[in-house]
Amino acid sequence: MSGSPMKRSSPLFSLIVLLVLQLFIPSASAQSHPSAKELLKQMTIEEKVAQLSQLPGFPIPEFIQQVGNPEDVIRKYGAGSVLWVPDPKQINRLQHIAVDQSPHHIPILFGLDVIHGYHTIFPSPIAMASSWDPKLVESAQAVAAREARAGGIVWTFAPMLDIARDARWGRMVEGAGEDPYLGAAIARAQVLGFQGTQLGAPDRLLACAKHFAGYGAADGGRDYDSSYIPEEQMWNTYLVPFKAAADAGVGSFMSAYMDLNDIPATGNRWLMHDVLRDTWKYNGFVVSDANAVHSLIIHGYARDGQDAAMKAFTAGVNMDMASGTYLKYLLAEAKAGYVPMQQIDEMVLPILETKIKLGLFEHPFIDEAKIPEVLNDPASQELARTAVQRSVVLMRNEQNTLPLDKSQIKSIAVIGPLGDVQADMLDMWGAMTKPGPTVSILQGIKNKVGDSAHVEFAHGPNIRRDIPSFFENVPIIPIKEQPRQSLEEAKKAFDDAVDLAKRSDVAIVVLGEIALMSGEAASRASLILSGGQEELLEAVAATGKPVVLLLVNGRPLEITWASEHVPAILETWYSGSQAGNGIADILFGDANPAGHLPVSWPRTSAGLPLYYNHNLTQAPEVAPNFTSRYWDIKSTPLYPFGYGLSYTTFSYDNLKLSQSEAKVGATLDVAVDATNSGNRAGDTVVQLYIHQRAGSASRPVRQLKGFQRVTLQPGAKQTVHFKLGPDELQFWSPALKKWVVEPEAFDVWAGDNSQAKLHAEFHLTK
Ligand code: NOJ
Repeated sequence: MSGSPMKRSSPLFSLIVLLVLQLFIPSASAQSHPSAKELLKQMTIEEKVAQLSQLPGFPIPEFIQQVGNPEDVIRKYGAGSVLWVPDPKQINRLQHIAVDQSPHHIPILFGLDVIHGYHTIFPSPIAMASSWDPKLVESAQAVAAREARAGGIVWTFAPMLDIARDARWGRMVEGAGEDPYLGAAIARAQVLGFQGTQLGAPDRLLACAKHFAGYGAADGGRDYDSSYIPEEQMWNTYLVPFKAAADAGVGSFMSAYMDLNDIPATGNRWLMHDVLRDTWKYNGFVVSDANAVHSLIIHGYARDGQDAAMKAFTAGVNMDMASGTYLKYLLAEAKAGYVPMQQIDEMVLPILETKIKLGLFEHPFIDEAKIPEVLNDPASQELARTAVQRSVVLMRNEQNTLPLDKSQIKSIAVIGPLGDVQADMLDMWGAMTKPGPTVSILQGIKNKVGDSAHVEFAHGPNIRRDIPSFFENVPIIPIKEQPRQSLEEAKKAFDDAVDLAKRSDVAIVVLGEIALMSGEAASRASLILSGGQEELLEAVAATGKPVVLLLVNGRPLEITWASEHVPAILETWYSGSQAGNGIADILFGDANPAGHLPVSWPRTSAGLPLYYNHNLTQAPEVAPNFTSRYWDIKSTPLYPFGYGLSYTTFSYDNLKLSQSEAKVGATLDVAVDATNSGNRAGDTVVQLYIHQRAGSASRPVRQLKGFQRVTLQPGAKQTVHFKLGPDELQFWSPALKKWVVEPEAFDVWAGDNSQAKLHAEFHLTK
């Protein structure tokens, strides 16, 4: 049997139902399946628990040992979801088993980590956030959704909304950085891009807000380590992007791995019940992170499988990702009568409803013949290239080293272990879906200069992690570390690179981290340019040739020496399929950089965690000369949050508020003029910061409360307006245990980074 899952009901009965429905509810004519509640009445307990389970798409011995072969489970009971199956053929095959053979023919939700692209890979999330361009983010995720949906994926485990203030934490690359306001804006844009304005919009996916919540605050930046976050920081910082995603209608949440204040997030009822369901009235469903239900035992939180299943279930996890704990133990508990059927039904209901909303019952299968047409849309590649141009951050540009002048340069040295890589430009997630071809930086530069200059490449010594990544051995992740070299091999590669610089007009040195050095289980204690890269950079600079440093990485790195000695530095992050072309556009001035940092750039890992929106201390503190924090290193960032240069210059003036005094509850208008004071067209990111001077709690020295990326022709001026109302002025007060707007004095700054000087003030009164 194929086609609609409901083909088994008698044709005559269906016809009568259809006619009756058409008579009374014309719009219901398309619905050929029972409602979720009807289905629940018919399903067995086994089928229900199968809907609460997500099965792994490749063989995991522990899973098979516990519950058997996933395919048999699907055939006997169906399945809520299957993950990690990138192959569309395989998806159709498994879907046929569910729809044709399982008792109630309920289609499967196929899930995959479509984080920043499926075939067309866009820059990594931290790069996309560096664009400060939510519209771009939305469009990119809409492309990702269209491509993934064509390939049979219905559910993405994105966006990742973890605030990250510690660059040692490997997963900083997957999020929007350190700031809750920017994080919320990017969260909304991603949900809208993935899902459209409502679940079930054609060519869109079900999105998943992860990792709920506090994962980015891991102790010491060590992945999976405990987070200790006081309630006021949860509400004011870590939960903010999640609330934005919930408000934007995100269809699912994923519970995080780590302990939050001693209770693992996957067993944390405060998070999933009190916050998510009770306070936010969220009615989608929650999936655990992979194996996280079982991991409650490893955490030392659950006694055994039964306890783990019950703790996760009662805390609010609807679906168990890949551990089989629900299938084995929740089922046993339910059968023994320890879990009321009504509770099971309540947890299954949103999963079934989501499948219905997504149109899966009507269209469970994909047309494999149509996939190439969707994946090969040239407009998607164009957008990916634009995304690179808009996300690269120019951090230093002495004597206008950049842009390079094609008519002057005859020989170009591209140097470094990341200068000619492809899969690494995609980061781990981008490489895991169905990525198309990737343009390396070397290739992009060659494409750009054509015959006008000789371009040569020298790799330099290989780079690797000291402790290898376990993802290197995961079947669906085709990324490898660079091979280990002997000392002689490394020395030769080093010398060759320096020689090449000597005989070239300019050296473009591409350094940073291979993909497996950032991301999950990729935290690091030091942020140095490892594996001899710093020495290579210094040796190339010592040749006296002009040097441009391109960073390819997932987090800020220690570049203090470079920031004083290398004339031009571009942060390019992992920039995806069009990496080389987009970066070459910037290098040669066909695009003007305007990316701005979504994180404060530390001088060294010793200064972490670091974030601009910290509280004041007892000692007077005048930015940027904080003196009281450390005496052996500067406690200020090397580059502040919000920072980024352009090939042109901008000035800001005329910061004006609609009122200097207003009542609590009022909304003020803030206006500021941005002018392009240079001689090239370019974009600036106008940023608005506030500070509440006193109140029921200490408030951060500055907080971002508005931003807008604007394009200005040389000499042009634009007045940019922002609103400051209750949403922007409120905070969760630890003294009052609630959200408040307080009658106090406020500072306002506007400019193009978090140390902007243009200042105004206002008072709120009772
Ligand atoms: C574990 C990761 O923490 C999560 O982000 C991801 O979505 C799942 N694995 C599924 O791949």
